[in-house]
Amino acid sequence: MNDPVPPADALRSSLAALLTNLPPRQAAQAVDRLIANYRGATPTHAPILRDRADVAAYAAYRMPATFQATASALEALAEATPDWVPAGHTDIGGGTGAATWAVTATWPGTRPVTVLDWAEPALALGKEIAAANPALHDAHWQRSRIGPALTLAPTDLATISYVLNELTAPDRTALLTTVAAAAQTVVIVEPGTPDGYTRVIEARDHLIAAGFRIAAPCPHSAACPIAPGTDWCHFSARVSRSSLHRQVKGGSLAYEDEKFSYVAATRRPATPAAARVVRRPQIRKGQVLLDLCETDEQLRRTTVTKRHGDLYKAARDADWGDPWPPLL
Ligand SMILES: C[S@@+](CC[C@H](N)C(=O)[O-])C[C@H]1O[C@@H](n2cnc3c(N)ncnc32)[C@H](O)[C@@H]1O
Repeated sequence: MNDPVPPADALRSSLAALLTNLPPRQAAQAVDRLIANYRGATPTHAPILRDRADVAAYAAYRMPATFQATASALEALAEATPDWVPAGHTDIGGGTGAATWAVTATWPGTRPVTVLDWAEPALALGKEIAAANPALHDAHWQRSRIGPALTLAPTDLATISYVLNELTAPDRTALLTTVAAAAQTVVIVEPGTPDGYTRVIEARDHLIAAGFRIAAPCPHSAACPIAPGTDWCHFSARVSRSSLHRQVKGGSLAYEDEKFSYVAATRRPATPAAARVVRRPQIRKGQVLLDLCETDEQLRRTTVTKRHGDLYKAARDADWGDPWPPLL
């Protein structure tokens, strides 16, 4: 039997196929409209993703990046919970289902999956794209509005990726209260901007108050050591650019770095990293400078030199977002 196609590759070819049916000019116009909408006043009172062209443009233009960012967050969660595999997944504000793909990339296999969104065209296209992923064949795509009336069935894992940004403050609070009551583990991903980080920290505080512990990225569940307004915790995921990206943004770069902020919180046992690399490591002659967020609720710069032997080799390979120290 042939090996199954990894979800990241299956997603990429599925999205490329989508574009073959969408005239390039129409796709580019839909992307321009989306970018303008997302720059405008959010939250909105009606779905931004109104029709198939909007949704196809969203999927082709943004889904590789939201998939990759969410997959990075889930990978960090999986490292902190090595004995756990989610028994079920609910993706809230799931749109075309990027996070469902990320969950199957992190934990292969089937499980009950529900995607909730208020944009019917997004759900319809998400279901179509998911035909390329055997683990998503039985996923349930359900129209649902996030707000005080939202109800959620109990679930092992809930994801909320790139959604908080589109909600009013009361709807964000209502969602966090509802998800904290329904899910054992919650993963929230937002753009890696100061505002995105602020929303992640608000969600983190809310989930801790509801009895969750932080599994990633933080090494602890105490207050974030970043003084509000001075900096923002975010990470970077490398995403290959699609032809649509090159068409809309120009340039010939083969990849883009998607900046994102996230938190993974759980009621289950988890072993967070002892420390996490929170900036791109700086490699100097004979030494590597690592900016770490540490268990004692401090941000600290550590210098690892050649004298540290294997640890130095590991530091040279360390990436922004990795746990530290590595298991040697
Ligand atoms: C930027 S997209 C993110 C989609 C997907 N989670 C991802 O990571 O690619 C935001 C999604 O949230 C949905 N959304 C925004 N406000 C909503 C609301 N009040 N109720 C339900 N869905 C909502 C939108 O329809 C859209 O699909």
